[in-house]
Amino acid sequence: MTAEIIDGKAFAAEVRDKVAGHVARLKEEHGITPGLAVVLVGEDPASQVYVRSKGKQTVDVGMNSYEHKLDVETSQADLLALIEQLNHDPAVHGILVQLPLPRHLDEDLVINAIDPAKDVDGFHISNVGLLGTGQKSMVPCTPLGCLMMLRHHHGSLLGMNAVVVGRSNIVGKPMAQLLLGDSCTVTIAHSRTKDLAAVVRRADIVVAAVGRPEMVPGDWIKPGATVIDVGINRVDAPEKGAGKTRLVGDVDFAGCAEVAGAITPVPGGVGPMTIACLLANTVTACCRANG
Ligand code: GUN
Repeated sequence: MTAEIIDGKAFAAEVRDKVAGHVARLKEEHGITPGLAVVLVGEDPASQVYVRSKGKQTVDVGMNSYEHKLDVETSQADLLALIEQLNHDPAVHGILVQLPLPRHLDEDLVINAIDPAKDVDGFHISNVGLLGTGQKSMVPCTPLGCLMMLRHHHGSLLGMNAVVVGRSNIVGKPMAQLLLGDSCTVTIAHSRTKDLAAVVRRADIVVAAVGRPEMVPGDWIKPGATVIDVGINRVDAPEKGAGKTRLVGDVDFAGCAEVAGAITPVPGGVGPMTIACLLANTVTACCRANG
């Protein structure tokens, strides 16, 4: 079997088009322009790339983008003061603090200082609790993007066996909650799971979010299963020339594509959907703020 490729890039473009339409209507009918503030502390190169991309796409769909680039030495008090200011700024409907933060800053404290209604990442403890109890919340963007692709591909996920490999607060845990919300039978597996291969082989849906390059081989995949690869890992690619690198996911794409029914590629799968969902969450936050 050769898997169908789930084209996250194309799907994300559709989501962005819908967001842009919504933004245009908000402007025309209500005179409101949604605004997203992104806070970056320090100069982590990968974070800089993400933040630039978020800013560009925010503007491309017609929203206002407010970028706050802070020195790596920024104190916790100064960062909290900025968040407080953004919490009270009526032009800002969504706030995202790019993670990871430098080590001297307390990530939990910073995230929980964001007004939950503006927490477009869905990381605030209130939103985590709301999601866990099936109430209306801001939903973390990466798992939301994965869920949208799964629903688009399958229609209903009811009764499917889903295995999430990875237990992070950003992806693994909220992904499991969302799949449970769609009536999957959910297993969260991780680096300490015994016989991970056997656990993954039971899955109709595999979501790999461990951050280890090509960790899931094809022979762990049940024939016909759907594989969602959240990993974005840069590895050496000597075949492309000295010093060259390439991006790979957490699954062995070629091996898994031989067995799976459908699979997301890296790049071009989950990644583009994450930012599209961030834009959608910002519009949602704006609509909720304005009744
Ligand atoms: N760093 C890596 N992924 C994310 C994300 O989804 N949100 C934020 N704020 N930081 C990240």
